[in-house]
Amino acid sequence: MQVVDFDLGSPPEWLDAWHRIDVEVALETLPGLEPPSAAESRGELLGELGWRRRGLAAIDGGELVGAVTFQEPLLEDLDMAYAWMLVDAAHRRRGIGARLLDASRELLVPDGRRRLHSSVLVDSPAAAFARRAGGRITQIELSNALDVTALDLPALRANAEPQSPYVLASWVDACPDELVAAFADAHTAMDDAPRGEPADASAWSVDRIRDQERCWADLGFTILTVAAIHEPSGDVGGYTQLLLTGRPSTAVQEDTGVVRAHRGHGLGLALKCANLLALVEHSPQIATVVTWNAESNKYMLAVNEAVGFRVRSRWEEVSLAL
Ligand SMILES: CC(C)(COP(=O)(O)OP(=O)(O)OC[C@H]1O[C@@H](n2cnc3c(N)ncnc32)[C@H](O)[C@@H]1OP(=O)(O)O)[C@@H](O)C(=O)NCCC(=O)NCCS
Repeated sequence: MQVVDFDLGSPPEWLDAWHRIDVEVALETLPGLEPPSAAESRGELLGELGWRRRGLAAIDGGELVGAVTFQEPLLEDLDMAYAWMLVDAAHRRRGIGARLLDASRELLVPDGRRRLHSSVLVDSPAAAFARRAGGRITQIELSNALDVTALDLPALRANAEPQSPYVLASWVDACPDELVAAFADAHTAMDDAPRGEPADASAWSVDRIRDQERCWADLGFTILTVAAIHEPSGDVGGYTQLLLTGRPSTAVQEDTGVVRAHRGHGLGLALKCANLLALVEHSPQIATVVTWNAESNKYMLAVNEAVGFRVRSRWEEVSLAL
């Protein structure tokens, strides 16, 4: 068994195997939910302005039997990397995960990365693996899902109206030019989402937004965004995004954030309700929305619960000193 570099230029059969294992692990760890699309698995390796993405593959007899992908922030948190490690179920408990982890250290430490973060299902083989490797649990994350077919549409409509002086703007895919600078600034709202560990302030710019949009377009994703505009200042007070990633009937919740100065006006609920209405209209085939939230994020969880999200499973966020 060899550990080799893994990227979008790797043999197509390795990329296919990565997606197959990604699907198998999703069916194992998130039963009842649609697994990731091929584009989502490929997206683990597609870099953008804010993130370097690359990986390492375990190759046995020419076949990919496990791999780890890394997401290294390039504009903040330069000492850390996120990892997603998968070993084919038929090849587990043979030291492949441990070999991939050793190779991860060799790859990342010379680049200044000192902390490796990941998420593991509570009480799973991965949780045992992370514990044995010395990973520290930083927080609990909840996997939540919403049954779109059971939405109370009149209630959503009633809640989708923000108070004056806020108005909602919504768009599909690229942010309109006249809003994009304010939209980039509003991304700092996400800095207050619980991270379990100290983290740098994020550095967003128009270029970074445009590059993220390019990356999502390259993967064939459709993005539905609703933003709350504070009319007197023109600021984006908050925003929420849903991604259509190619799963037949599931949409993926991306960021929802309200900038600190604009909190306390019910914008979180209004944004979510408005975007769910946009989703129902744009993509009537979508039956489920999936999202992840820190267990300690009581405001976001209250909004999600109010619109109908329910907890499906509990995950540990782990941090490993490299
Ligand atoms: C987590 C995972 C990658 C581990 O891969 P692996 O190749 O089986 O791991 P290793 O054989 O190198 O195991 C190393 C050590 O981890 C621990 N471990 C791994 N699997 C375990 C299990 N099922 N039960 C208890 N301990 C386990 C053991 O201490 C093991 O050492 P040992 O076999 O000498 O006792 C694999 O279980 C997997 O793909 N799980 C699903 C994917 C996932 O959830 N990934 C998220 C993590 S980023």
